[in-house]
Amino acid sequence: MKPSTAKRVRETYTALADRTPQMVEAFYRRVFAARPDLVAIFPPDMSRLQGHFGAALALIARNVERIDALEQPLMSMGARHLGYGVKYEDYPIVGEALLATLEEFAGVLWTPEVAAAWKDVVSAVSAAMLRGAAVAAWESERPLRGQRRSAP
Ligand code: HEM
Repeated sequence: MKPSTAKRVRETYTALADRTPQMVEAFYRRVFAARPDLVAIFPPDMSRLQGHFGAALALIARNVERIDALEQPLMSMGARHLGYGVKYEDYPIVGEALLATLEEFAGVLWTPEVAAAWKDVVSAVSAAMLRGAAVAAWESERPLRGQRRSAP
């Protein structure tokens, strides 16, 4: 990750972190509007949902300089997501909802450079998670792609 990318991501995160609870609501509204079927795999209570969004955002922003060094933990996280019932096809909508939510809250801070920096980081994190999910799917014979038959 280029130092300029890392700096842009960290700066946006610092500016927005205080509004995490409001961003959480906006993020899940977006995800569930686009994919109502995903409601079933998330825990029903909002405080845990907040944990997810907050954890994802903090993880990305705090580790932006060493995403490559985080390959193993990110792969493990991807493997855990396979266990939650998350499919390959779910990653783009979640990534897009994350970026759109950040854009909504960042306002004028959301320059083309900042947008590109976040996109790079979200892609890198998703790719590493999917590598881990793919290995776990192979080992467990649990499908990574395709329809979710029932809640996990
Ligand atoms: C950029 C990609 C993502 C990041 C960084 C991320 C981050 C996290 C983190 C940090 C947790 C906490 C538990 C753990 O570490 O295993 C978590 C849990 C979870 N994530 Fe994600 N996630 C991502 C993508 C997704 C996607 C695509 C879905 C599918 C809709 C998803 C659904 C869930 C669910 C259902 C849980 C469990 C929540 C619970 O039971 O408390 N995540 N995620």
